[in-house]
Formats: sequence, C-alpha cells, structure tokens
Amino acid sequence: MKVGIVGAGFVGSTAAYALVTSGGASEVVLVDANEKLAMAQAQDIAHAVPFARATTVRHGPYEALDGAGVVVLAAGVGQKPGETRLDLLERNARVFGQVIPAALAAAPEAILLVATNPVDVMTHIATHISGLPRHRVIGSGTVLDTARFRALLGARLGVTPKSVHAHVVGEHGDSEVLLWSGATAAGMPVERCAAQLGHPLTDADRAAIDEGVRRAAYRIIEGKGHTAFGIGSGIARIIAAIAGDERAVLTCSTLTDAVAGVRDVTLSLPRVLGSRGVVDTVMPPLSAEEETALNRSATILREAATGVEQ
Ligand code: LAC
Repeated sequence: MKVGIVGAGFVGSTAAYALVTSGGASEVVLVDANEKLAMAQAQDIAHAVPFARATTVRHGPYEALDGAGVVVLAAGVGQKPGETRLDLLERNARVFGQVIPAALAAAPEAILLVATNPVDVMTHIATHISGLPRHRVIGSGTVLDTARFRALLGARLGVTPKSVHAHVVGEHGDSEVLLWSGATAAGMPVERCAAQLGHPLTDADRAAIDEGVRRAAYRIIEGKGHTAFGIGSGIARIIAAIAGDERAVLTCSTLTDAVAGVRDVTLSLPRVLGSRGVVDTVMPPLSAEEETALNRSATILREAATGVEQ
C-alpha cells in the first residue's frame, strides 16, 4: 500500500522509517513545506531500505500523494518543555486548514491518520474539514499510551509486554484513563498474575505506573526535546492493521456519538481497524472510578473542540 506522510519532522520521518523496517508499505511519500527537509529525510530513509524491507521512499509535492491508501498528518508544532498537548491547538488547527484540502485533492480515497497534537481535537477538526465519513479519519490517540501502559506493567510483572493486555482510553494527554480494571497478563487479572509470580502489586506500583505512562512524553521531551520512536512505531502499527485488513483492536481516536455521558466527542477507545479504517468500536467494562475519569477526559476534549468549532 502507498502511504503519504505530510510533515517530515521527527514524527513523520520516524513513522516513515518504521514503515520501512516493518515492511508496512510498498511506497512512502514524504511531503513538507520545507522541501529540502522532505528530500533529505526521504533520501536518508531510502538508504536504510537495503537493510530493511523493499519500499520505495521518495519526497514530493502534494500531487505525489496520488493513490495513497493512507495519508498521515504529522504537520505542525510539537510540545516544548512544560507545554501541554492542548497548548498546541490554535497553532496546529491553522495548519490543518491548508494541509487537509491539499492532501485530499491528491488522494481523495485515502484514510486520514492524524498524529499532530493535540491529536484528539486535531482528529475532530480533520473530520469536519475533510467531510470524510468518520471511520476514515483516525487519530493515533492513546495507541502509544496503551503501549507504555503494557510496557511498564510487563516490566513490573517480569513478563514481556506482548503477554500483557491493557488499555488507555480518552485523551492522549493529561486526562487519559488507564483501565486497571480490565488489565490482564497470562489471561488473568494483573493483580492475580503478579501475586502468582511472587510480586503482589502495591498501590505505590500502581501510582508509579500511572505517572510513568501519563508523564512519559514530558520526561522524554525534557531530555531530548521531542518524542518520535514510540509514536512513529504506533503509526506504523495502525497502518499495518489497515493495509492488512487485520481487524486488530487498537486504542485509536475517532469521532464518537456518545461516551461516558458526553456527545459528539473525538477520543480513544478500543477500535477494530481494517481496510476501511475504523470498522467497529469495543466499549470495555469500566469501574465507577474509570467511568468518572472518562467522563472528565471526554468533557475536556468536547470543550476544547467547541472552542475551535466556534
Ligand atoms: C507522545 C507524543 C506523541 O506522547 O504526544 O510521545
């Protein structure tokens, strides 16, 4: 499948590289207002192909997106130390007003995969600007937070994250909700697995894992100025699910009629992904505390979106 990536910065270029190393695309086209950057990124990544999977990697104008099955929207500014993702909204909303019409003029059949932060509200905006059916406008959402949750849980239990199933839902941001009540490892609740492995989970463990997931980006940005490898790999994973019509369940963001008492809000829930985009949504059972937290997260996103819609 041909994949277009608009925005050849840290996130877009890392997503392109992740597609080459994973074999998730037959062709990757990088588009950026800074053509010199797009060319350099494309050439650098193309030099990895002999060590990776057969992929055509090039750069070009929007017209080069022609025929793309997925167009990744990674254009815009990223968080600076101390900035929240929602702080980026006004600047990045302006960028989408130009980027989306240009991308769809070249690739009208594409699924839009939004990575620009604040990704949930940017996905909401992209849905309205594009006029596409909501199942074709997907935000990376909490795919990365879910991966972080699984990674930290696996490290605490002493098992690979691939044997841990846990979801983060709501905002990809400070109000996100870690679903402890549904977290399992080895097919049983994580609490029981931890006890069987001789390391019962404590409240301090839960607090450390919650902080580790929720504040991960801030810590990484303090150290290196941006994040890229986690989100780039998450984008490649979403594209693989679409390209392979996998019907994989990933916590992506898309416009949702009603959740936790909030209507018409774009946030992450476990979504079934296939070649048409979001083919279904699975609503996990929530504890009373999780329901309240999801309502708060959805309310924050609904209010942020209302501010932009006006
Ligand atoms: C992060 C960015 C992608 O969480 O928001 O790393």
